[in-house]
Amino acid sequence: MTEITRITCFDTNALLGVARENILLSWEISAQRRDVTQHQYQLQLAIRADFSSICYDSGWIGSAQSVNVALPAFIPSSCQRYWYRVRIIDDRQEQTDWSPSGWFETALLTSREWKANWVTPESEDEPAESVSYLHRMFDIEKPLVSARVYATALGIYQLTVNKHALETDLFSPGWTSYDDHLQFQVWDLTPHLKQGENALIVALAEGWFKGELSWLKKRELYGNKKAFLGQIHLRFADGEERVVFTDSQWRCSTGPVVKSGFYSGEVFDARRPDPAQHLCDEMKNGPPAKELKMQYRLVPQISEPVRITESLKPVSVLHDPDGVRILDLGQNMVGRLRVQTCLDDGQMLTLRHGEVLDQAGKLYTDNLRNALQTVQITGNGQNIDYAPVFSFQGFRYVSVEGLDALTDEQLISCITGEVLHTDMMRSGDFNCDNPLINQLYQNILWGQRGNFVDVPTDCPQRDERLGWTGDAHIFIRTGATNYNVRRFFRKWLMSVSADQKANGTIPMVVPDILREYISKIWGDETYTSSGWGDAAVICPWTLWQMYGDRQLLAEQYPGMKAWVQYIHQTGADPWLWNSGFQFGDWLALDAEPDSYFGATPVFLVATAFYAWSVSLLSRAAEALGFAEDAALYGGWAEKVSERFRQVFMLNGDMMADTQTAHILPLAFGLLPEEQRQSVADRLHQLVRENDYHLTTGFLGTPWLCTVLSAHGHHETAVKLACQRTFPSWLFSVDQGATTIWEHWDGIKPDGSFWSANMNSYNHYAYGAIGEWLFRYIAGLDYSETSVAWDDIVFRPDLSGAGFRQASAHYNSVRGRVAIDWRLNNGSAEIKVQVPANAKAIIILPEGENVIFEKNNHNSWKDIHDNHVRYIRLGSGNYHFMIEDELFGSNNSADLISEF
Ligand code: BGC
Repeated sequence: MTEITRITCFDTNALLGVARENILLSWEISAQRRDVTQHQYQLQLAIRADFSSICYDSGWIGSAQSVNVALPAFIPSSCQRYWYRVRIIDDRQEQTDWSPSGWFETALLTSREWKANWVTPESEDEPAESVSYLHRMFDIEKPLVSARVYATALGIYQLTVNKHALETDLFSPGWTSYDDHLQFQVWDLTPHLKQGENALIVALAEGWFKGELSWLKKRELYGNKKAFLGQIHLRFADGEERVVFTDSQWRCSTGPVVKSGFYSGEVFDARRPDPAQHLCDEMKNGPPAKELKMQYRLVPQISEPVRITESLKPVSVLHDPDGVRILDLGQNMVGRLRVQTCLDDGQMLTLRHGEVLDQAGKLYTDNLRNALQTVQITGNGQNIDYAPVFSFQGFRYVSVEGLDALTDEQLISCITGEVLHTDMMRSGDFNCDNPLINQLYQNILWGQRGNFVDVPTDCPQRDERLGWTGDAHIFIRTGATNYNVRRFFRKWLMSVSADQKANGTIPMVVPDILREYISKIWGDETYTSSGWGDAAVICPWTLWQMYGDRQLLAEQYPGMKAWVQYIHQTGADPWLWNSGFQFGDWLALDAEPDSYFGATPVFLVATAFYAWSVSLLSRAAEALGFAEDAALYGGWAEKVSERFRQVFMLNGDMMADTQTAHILPLAFGLLPEEQRQSVADRLHQLVRENDYHLTTGFLGTPWLCTVLSAHGHHETAVKLACQRTFPSWLFSVDQGATTIWEHWDGIKPDGSFWSANMNSYNHYAYGAIGEWLFRYIAGLDYSETSVAWDDIVFRPDLSGAGFRQASAHYNSVRGRVAIDWRLNNGSAEIKVQVPANAKAIIILPEGENVIFEKNNHNSWKDIHDNHVRYIRLGSGNYHFMIEDELFGSNNSADLISEF
């Protein structure tokens, strides 16, 4: 029986505060039988959960589309909850039941609906990093049906209603290019309100808006006053609707959080009265908030909010040579510590956070540069239960001063690490029979969690934590396999578009807070770089392939085009990129001593990325139906590739003999068939000559193993991935790393550290090898032309080169895609899962194999080509067994059978 197991709007089935353009519905179809496809669908929307009041009915639509279905004829009202459901007719004309329902609730959809005034609690002499409080009392005198707050801030805010902190979402309204757009949130207050007097309290900190950002120690980058904007919408049972909004009737006060900054940490004084717990008369009569006249483009929250997603207990207490106690969380994490203990009146507790210990066993903080990462708590003689609200730290170790009376065990029991990041849904997992590679994969996941904190950041600990565009595109495919990052990147890409200059340049960081300072030194034209600005093309393209969201691709298309046009006209030769500042293969090991710039010529890198971006642009144009653009940019891609070969190759060989110089043309398809193998062979030789060690940096590393595996050198790729001596991925794992390091030698073989100047132990870029683990070891991949996993490729690594078992799964918008294989003695066993409304191909080694078809179904076709056997599969679960002496046994006949 075919059925719909799940239907979602914008990837979730309960969404409070959606914008009109994000009303896109997707559903998962499931069936016992194989080869299921959708032929027709019918969607309904209702304003009651029991669908007694249908407000939209699509009727039966003949379409196979089950992903991101827009409803062009549906005009939503503001602040209205809608329930939705779907049913389909499948390829055997079988009609399903209605799906389970989901709901979304629209936000305020037009600027006219905002009645509130911006208010600031700030006085003229407000100290830096201070936290302010605002509140408003309001009465409820009759039965209430629902209550919502629509709110945003210049700064970051936390709401408390009647002592109930709405703290699950952190750092609202999030970081966007505020001058272009500012997110607002919708909060459901209904369960927290009562008859009589109610109070809404806002705590407001500087956040990204006003607080310190970057190593340049810049403050007030968007403005010099924190402010809040909010509307409480009350709907009463008698039909009355009442709005209470921010104005000068709101009162200001102080509270127990004295100071807070992302880099510096937080100061909390429990002796100070907390308005969120009790509004004393002095507070009730506090100074009125000042109204401000300001205009911001307000958009409902796009991504999932930042939340606490896990708690970790310290694993041990260490004692440094000076007797300072250091807690070890056992994991380099990003978040905060919760402290639950009794502190004497005035007793002060200081927590300093760091990622590693130095060789003497002391907390190492030099690599944090100006970020203090220090939390200070003062007691009031009572129990406290406190964790920083407006700051986060990157740490594994924490020195604790001020709790001397507690034993080590007591210390552990009163402190908990709370892990925070954007609360994306987990979508993929990888596992294999090599525990070190499994640890590497865990490190990749932790690197992602620590750096997907509202924007994709480079690092979470030092005075940086910025949205470096290069890092984001390097990691996006791995990141999108681990977690559902569609909303996260959609939000960030809106800022990328906003911060793109009229001439098409894309900044190095987004939200762009560096241009003003860096372009003064380098010039505005060069405030970009290949491999960084290309994020404007690579990220939307990757999201298109992963999620098939046409609207997102269409939104990004003008910016993708403008970026390519910029490259095209910069410099004298339209088919080469050989001017301006370039990061090149950043941090590659073939760099000159003490340099961050790798040895691969930067203009080779730039031209390779130019060609790649143009060819992706052409594919995006094709996907959107822009035939002329597709042809135009397709032609450009060929011209750039040709110039690349003319300028950077001689007689079919790369002129630069670095690993990255060989990787990029292979990865980006810049070589004609007849040159590919020799370039790949030379790469293989370079790796071998270096005793199976890499020398690559940010831009070569993500593709290194992939191009080796794809060009007949899979064993070499496996050797690199499993290499344990420096430099390698597993070198850091052997050193005890629990996240991915910025430098291959963040901790050197002799135990000393890379320069404190730039040495993060939580940088996700080199974690981009995750993509290869999925695609070439577990063998879970999609084809070049696949959209939203409609054309899956299974490529289990049955080579025996390093692995005897691996599995991976990915929860696609269509449903679960999975593979699980193992080599037994003399046989290989492979299980795969293909969701309905998708097709797949499984690639197996060629042999004199015999295929047994069970149940006389027609779900696969066997194609033999060049020592490889391709089997086409429709949806369903499959279980193959291949017998071959290759897999370790003696003399059995080659055989593929399916169970
Ligand atoms: C960041 C990077 C970034 C790089 C660009 C660093 O400070 O941490 O990851 O891409 O600068 O140069």
